[in-house]
Amino acid sequence: MEYVIVNGEVMDRASAKVDIEDRGYQFGDGVYEVIRVYNGKMFTGTEHLNRLVESAKKIRMELPYSPEALAGMLEQLIAKNELQTGIVYMQFTRGTSPRNHVFPGKDVAPTFVAYTRQVARPEESMQKGVRTILDEDIRWLRCDIKSLNLLGNLLSKQKAAEAGCFEAILHRGQTVTEGSHSNISIIKDGVIITHPADNHILNGITRQKVLEVCKNEQIPFEERAYTLQELYAADEVFSSGTTVEVMPVIEIEGKPVGNGEPGSVTRRLQELFKAEITQQCGQI
Ligand code: PDD
Repeated sequence: MEYVIVNGEVMDRASAKVDIEDRGYQFGDGVYEVIRVYNGKMFTGTEHLNRLVESAKKIRMELPYSPEALAGMLEQLIAKNELQTGIVYMQFTRGTSPRNHVFPGKDVAPTFVAYTRQVARPEESMQKGVRTILDEDIRWLRCDIKSLNLLGNLLSKQKAAEAGCFEAILHRGQTVTEGSHSNISIIKDGVIITHPADNHILNGITRQKVLEVCKNEQIPFEERAYTLQELYAADEVFSSGTTVEVMPVIEIEGKPVGNGEPGSVTRRLQELFKAEITQQCGQI
């Protein structure tokens, strides 16, 4: 049996139901998180749950649980599903009420859904690197909110998939922002350059962890906007995210990055990131 959580209750997936007038379904009116699980333990769970609270605040939604209470529920779900390596997904919507653009009253409680899924570490791609396309970033101007509205992301990711690529690198005019489902950083002369955490990108927990590691290891980095020209001239490029960890990008629009193979700085970041996982969740 596969267990899920609906509004705080652990139940069989087959009996889990959400109303057709749920605002997540009607409007995408809600927020979500994806947390990595290694050896049955959540990695950077606290950081993800804090971001969930922040996302909810930014859309003026009050969560009915504290991050601590949520962590407890998610741990229970992971244990019940005997998940070792995978993800736990959770979302809160602004609840169920007759369709109306105006928020419902305080009497309407958010809908909370969570489930787990087995997801292996993408070892082969992490080893070989991945191909990417470029796409204009047509999303709204609050990409810092991890909102359920992902149409812009989906259109770009679909375009990448149809081109046989892993990711679409998004740009607003000449400025590179992030990927359709990950953050994108470049490396030039040993310096990591990544878009600042403003309204144009999701401030990835993986991105933050990588920068923390850089600080500890005295690997130089700059949080600043960089151009398409800098992207093409980079020695190395990598994508980062919960499921993909630190993923070398070896090709953009059919052109090789550097010599077309994962570079040494990216390799080092992969090792350092793996050490962080091992420290929190045990050997992987
Ligand atoms: N995606 N940018 C975007 C647009 C993302 O969707 C994600 C994550 C990231 C990386 O964030 P983090 O390191 O916190 O996972 C950046 C998740 C995994 C998803 O939607 O499935």
